[in-house]
Amino acid sequence: MTFDELLRLPVKGFMEDHEARRLFELGLAAAPLGPCLEIGSYCGKSALFLGEACRRSGGILFSIDHHRGSEEQQPGEAYHDPELVDPATGLVDTFRFFRRTLDLADLTGAVVPIVTQSRVAARAWATPLSLVFIDGGHTFEAAETDYVCWSGHVKQGGLLVIHDIFFDPAAGGQAPRHVYELALASGLWEELPMTGTLGALRRRPAA
Ligand SMILES: C[S@@+](CC[C@H](N)C(=O)[O-])C[C@H]1O[C@@H](n2cnc3c(N)ncnc32)[C@H](O)[C@@H]1O
Repeated sequence: MTFDELLRLPVKGFMEDHEARRLFELGLAAAPLGPCLEIGSYCGKSALFLGEACRRSGGILFSIDHHRGSEEQQPGEAYHDPELVDPATGLVDTFRFFRRTLDLADLTGAVVPIVTQSRVAARAWATPLSLVFIDGGHTFEAAETDYVCWSGHVKQGGLLVIHDIFFDPAAGGQAPRHVYELALASGLWEELPMTGTLGALRRRPAA
């Protein structure tokens, strides 16, 4: 599918169109170098763009989510969507929506869902990655765990992409900004232009 066709699919998500285009372009650049991985599948919005980018070069996107929703997506919280509650359990269950998105976009051959907590998936991970996209839990603990667990798996020349970076605390939570700044302070990453709240870093070659 073209980018514009993907954009028109009826998929719930939190990504602005210009951020989606940038994510797609970063995916296209990275995917020929190896598998991509995202933390935070939700209903599959970001997986559409990264997954299609991977598919075009015969690659793979691993997409991690426990599918029970983040803190802010629980009943009574700001980003709760009652349609996502499984009536049988009363729990948020976005996996049904995620699978539907992969079917709609014909991406089941390019996207591998991993249904667990990101730190559990990381316990035995050994595959070098061309791109890691962090868009999971937005608490400081969750975002830092994702950064610590996954950024080290990015190959030299590969990309670390972080969503929802707000430099104005009044505009949004500060956890993604915190891990973005941790990465910059490490000296391991070269800063690429930001698009909206989407930050992108390229791993420097070893000195
Ligand atoms: C902001 S949403 C992701 C949005 C998605 N990338 C998109 O483009 O629509 C965050 C997702 O992270 C998941 N999540 C939160 N903490 C997690 C964790 N520790 N491990 C795995 N998934 C987690 C939630 O279940 C939720 O679906």
